[in-house]
Amino acid sequence: MNFKNINTSLEKLNENIIVITSFLNEKIETRFNELNLIVSDFKGKYNKIETVKAFVEGKIIKVCLVGLGEKEELSNEKIRVVGGNLAKKLKSMIKDEAVNVDILSSDLCEEGAYALVEGIILGDYEFKKYKTNHKAKIIDTINIYTKEDVSKSIEKGKLLAETTIVARDLVNEPANVIYPETLANEVIKLGKEYGFEVEVYEEEKIKSLGMEAFLSVAKGSEKKPRFIVMRYMPNKEDKEILGLVGKGLTFDTGGYSIKPTSSMVNMKTDMGGAASVIGAMCAISKDKLDKNVVAVVAACENAISGKAYKPGDIINSMGKKTIEVLNTDAEGRLTLADAVYYIVNNEKTTSILDIATLTGAAIVALGTVASGVITNNDDFYNELENASKLSGEKIWRLPVFDEYKSLIKGSEADLKNSAGREGGCITAGLFVGEFVGSTPWLHVDIAGTSESAKSSGYKSKGATGEGVRTLYYLASIKK
Ligand code: BES
Ligand code: MN
Ligand code: ZN
Repeated sequence: MNFKNINTSLEKLNENIIVITSFLNEKIETRFNELNLIVSDFKGKYNKIETVKAFVEGKIIKVCLVGLGEKEELSNEKIRVVGGNLAKKLKSMIKDEAVNVDILSSDLCEEGAYALVEGIILGDYEFKKYKTNHKAKIIDTINIYTKEDVSKSIEKGKLLAETTIVARDLVNEPANVIYPETLANEVIKLGKEYGFEVEVYEEEKIKSLGMEAFLSVAKGSEKKPRFIVMRYMPNKEDKEILGLVGKGLTFDTGGYSIKPTSSMVNMKTDMGGAASVIGAMCAISKDKLDKNVVAVVAACENAISGKAYKPGDIINSMGKKTIEVLNTDAEGRLTLADAVYYIVNNEKTTSILDIATLTGAAIVALGTVASGVITNNDDFYNELENASKLSGEKIWRLPVFDEYKSLIKGSEADLKNSAGREGGCITAGLFVGEFVGSTPWLHVDIAGTSESAKSSGYKSKGATGEGVRTLYYLASIKK
């Protein structure tokens, strides 16, 4: 999909479909006299999209009217959502040939243009590569007519949508295609393409680093683990380094605490956190942000075999805290424990964020609307909240009272990996927090938000790419 910004009024109509955006109760018919629009009852209500016909120079042209609602109430997120629905509507109007579209949105400014572009590209996305006879409906070029020059903003929207799609594709790929080794290879390719450095540790190196918690999860699988390190360090003088850690379970059977089939069927998506940090690294480095960022992913598969770890095992960790494994399905926190310890101590990151499809409890608490966050630092949380307002990805802070911390103390070892159902999203996060020391830390549980059951707005069925844009903004606004 190509975008062009045109700063004149519409002169000649070469394109297949015209789109007109309209605020509440604007009289479209009179704004575009020359189009001879036949509009019966279009009021410009938010998210209403209607197709009508226009007669221009003896030709009939399809026109899509897009309602933006009250001008004062419009937000970037609302633009994104309506942009996504517009893309879906346009595709439903396409027959065989690729179409070009003119969008007439004269008031669209720098602030809104990128959101519209993000919405359209992300709303258009579908994961259909394994359908043998799939005919993709193609929107070829979109001309956006505005008063202001918004071409820079359009470029930014394209980058953020494209890198969100990097994450969506990685999550949507099944576990027989994306496993630790192939994930690492994809990251190496992306590093070359977008401009960050990639280093991949294999089993021996992981062992020598002392990552026993990570290796315990990995050891039941035929697929060997990989520890993936991504570095973008444009400013060597700056001592500040933002650390990003993504949960990278390329499949989660639950291990011996095995999941029922209905809960297991979608567990190829258990590397959604990894996909977020990978997509964010692409956006951060391609946009050449002046911030040092390091990201790591402890990639493995939680499987069953004679070699797998078992409930009741007592294991060690890179941070030298011992852990009772009460539930092999609480595996994410074990891999994250070593990953966050590594990034703080070996990469010398000065603040860190981990992001993970960590708990069903996050879905129970917040549904699929918002991601659950816990932190040890109010200022860092505020920065994340500002980033989330820019991305439209919703977050909600959960409490970390001492009573919760006492729930993860082990009886025979220092910690236990499961504290049961109560407060499950919080205790899982606090477990990871045991390994970050005093470094400012954010933990984001995206179990509910990283995937969507249906297509609507700028979401499509399957992976959402949650986190990519928020992490990009966090890096860009971070002090
Ligand atoms: N990957 C799952 C969490 C999950 C559940 C993500 C549903 C997406 C959708 C995680 O590894 C897990 O199994 N968590 C357990 C923890 C429990 C055993 C303490 C859970 O949430 O049930
Ligand atoms: Mn699990
Ligand atoms: Zn998991």
